[in-house]
Amino acid sequence: MTAVRRLVGRAVHVLETVDSTQNVLTRLAAEGAAEGTVVTARHQTAGRGRRGRRWWDAPGQSLMMSVLLRPSISIGQAPQLSLVAGLAVADALEIAAGVTARIRWPNDVLVDGKKIAGVLPEAVARGDGRLAYVLLGIGVNVDQDRFPDDLGNEATSLGLATGRTHDHGRLLEAVLEALDRRYDEWLSAGFAGLRDEWRRRASTLGERVPTGDGREGVAVDVDESGALLVDAGRGTLTRVVSQIAPS
Ligand code: BTN
Repeated sequence: MTAVRRLVGRAVHVLETVDSTQNVLTRLAAEGAAEGTVVTARHQTAGRGRRGRRWWDAPGQSLMMSVLLRPSISIGQAPQLSLVAGLAVADALEIAAGVTARIRWPNDVLVDGKKIAGVLPEAVARGDGRLAYVLLGIGVNVDQDRFPDDLGNEATSLGLATGRTHDHGRLLEAVLEALDRRYDEWLSAGFAGLRDEWRRRASTLGERVPTGDGREGVAVDVDESGALLVDAGRGTLTRVVSQIAPS
């Protein structure tokens, strides 16, 4: 029998300290790195989060990686990949660490109602509106027993949630394997094929959320493209599309 070779993680660059794994992978992507290439580091000096925020880490306590994907899609479909990644990280944390992981739309992973992992999608478009590539930056809090004051009571780690230590190599492998599987499913069936699994894990549905235009309402569902459907009280549902930053 021939083993099927995995796409995500076919090349993994393991580094010590970098500014951001997103920056390292951007350079590799520009040099033509293959789809599925991964950069992981023990510490970032300038880790980035979504919406221009900083992603804090203490050396050796977090799992941090960036994954290069090159699907043949329009740039407008790229935000779906951040939901795919959030689902994969939730899968992986359940399988490898035994926690119950929920997803706060679009891609925050929560355990016990607190954020344990986040995904930063960054995309590069070609001139014709197609995607050249996307970088999925993934950060998981593993061993932290405290967080900086500005994160307040919002964050947790696998150590805090389970009271034990976790093997970083095993967690990395679990995330790459889960992402490989979810990406493959998404390539075959789109977000529509993952929608029920996503809903099952969602913490957002039924919650009050901002609509992005100054209003807020109750999140009632996600549609087949991964947009959040929000009842903001005007008789129709407002579609809220997750944003993807340029790399
Ligand atoms: C978020 O704001 O929730 C997304 C956080 C993403 C952090 C990861 S850590 C690895 C990769 N490199 C970065 O600079 N950011 C992402």
